[in-house]
Amino acid sequence: MNVLVVGGAGYIGSHCVRQLIAAGHRPVVLDNLVLGHRAAVAADVPVYTVNLGNESEVGKVLRKEKIELVMHFAAYAYVGESVADPMKYYFNNVAAPLHLLRCMLGSGVKKFVFSSSCATYGSPAQMPITEDTPQAPINPYGQTKLDVENALRAFAAAYGLSFAVFRYFNAAGAAEDGTIGADHTPQTRVIPLAIDAAAGRGPPLQIFGNDYPTPDGTCRRDYVHVDDLSRAHIAVFEQLSTPGAALLYNLGTGTPTSVLEVIRAVEKVTGKPVPHTFAPRRAGDPPELYADSTKARRELGWQIKFPDIESIVATAWKWHEVHPHGFGGRK
Ligand SMILES: NC(=O)c1ccc[n+]([C@@H]2O[C@H](COP(=O)([O-])OP(=O)(O)OC[C@H]3O[C@@H](n4cnc5c(N)ncnc54)[C@H](O)[C@@H]3O)[C@@H](O)[C@H]2O)c1
Repeated sequence: MNVLVVGGAGYIGSHCVRQLIAAGHRPVVLDNLVLGHRAAVAADVPVYTVNLGNESEVGKVLRKEKIELVMHFAAYAYVGESVADPMKYYFNNVAAPLHLLRCMLGSGVKKFVFSSSCATYGSPAQMPITEDTPQAPINPYGQTKLDVENALRAFAAAYGLSFAVFRYFNAAGAAEDGTIGADHTPQTRVIPLAIDAAAGRGPPLQIFGNDYPTPDGTCRRDYVHVDDLSRAHIAVFEQLSTPGAALLYNLGTGTPTSVLEVIRAVEKVTGKPVPHTFAPRRAGDPPELYADSTKARRELGWQIKFPDIESIVATAWKWHEVHPHGFGGRK
């Protein structure tokens, strides 16, 4: 299938591009490279440096490349920034995908896969989180994802759009061969920060809060390997053949891992201590978030290849060893 990967030069999108090729599909990337890296995508994959909100340019790509399905990864995803500058988030994460969807429907492309987030659930009282857990985002980032989900439901009913929404938990790890991985500026994710601290390339890891009602007092999250996420996107293709299909899945391992457990895993994998300090809790950080992904396993046959934190950290460490400076600041 000819698949347009919007945001395909970013972290998760670039891994999905590789999985698409491995599964015999033909990916085409559209990315404005504001956050992504051309070097994250193989040289023989077409990359269009276009803003996804530019309907005339997106339309040309859809027609020229005979696109049959669109995957959308392109969004801003810093929670704190979304609170400080919500306009930026509503324009890029809601308005721009609406342009993309209008353009797709106008060109007869009716299959869509959307990267949503556990941030749409806010801070639920009950764990694990199922697809039926009420969605109540607690920041503009999560709200923008929920807004697009709601638009997709209406578009499926009215226009016969078939969509799959994947609500990721914490994407982590890197390609097993160490060729691509996470290169975000600023880096805010625990595993890359812990690795940088261990390698002496970054400051000690700051742990926000050690008095949460969790077994060791630090926050627990559900770290899911980026290649496991990517494989779910391809496993859903068959279901998207039904016009108007409206599919929603949580993607996580179902295992909560605390910040101190991440540190122990990084120390074990790297053989180096992770210098760390404790800081007060951050406002809006729920004590724990982890997924029930039974539905994805049952309906898509989704299987997790990296079920434990050490196997995930090992791939991130390999990427950092081979590419200590990520893509070297290259776009
Ligand atoms: N990383 C996670 O843990 C996580 C968790 C839940 C959900 N998500 C969602 O998954 C998606 C991918 O996340 P990521 O970590 O790979 O992010 P990323 O920043 O690495 O990748 C996003 C890509 O989209 C591109 N982009 C952004 N706005 C664009 C626009 N207007 N036009 C064209 N290209 C644009 C960027 O240049 C970048 O290459 C996002 O939608 C994010 O909200 C990520």
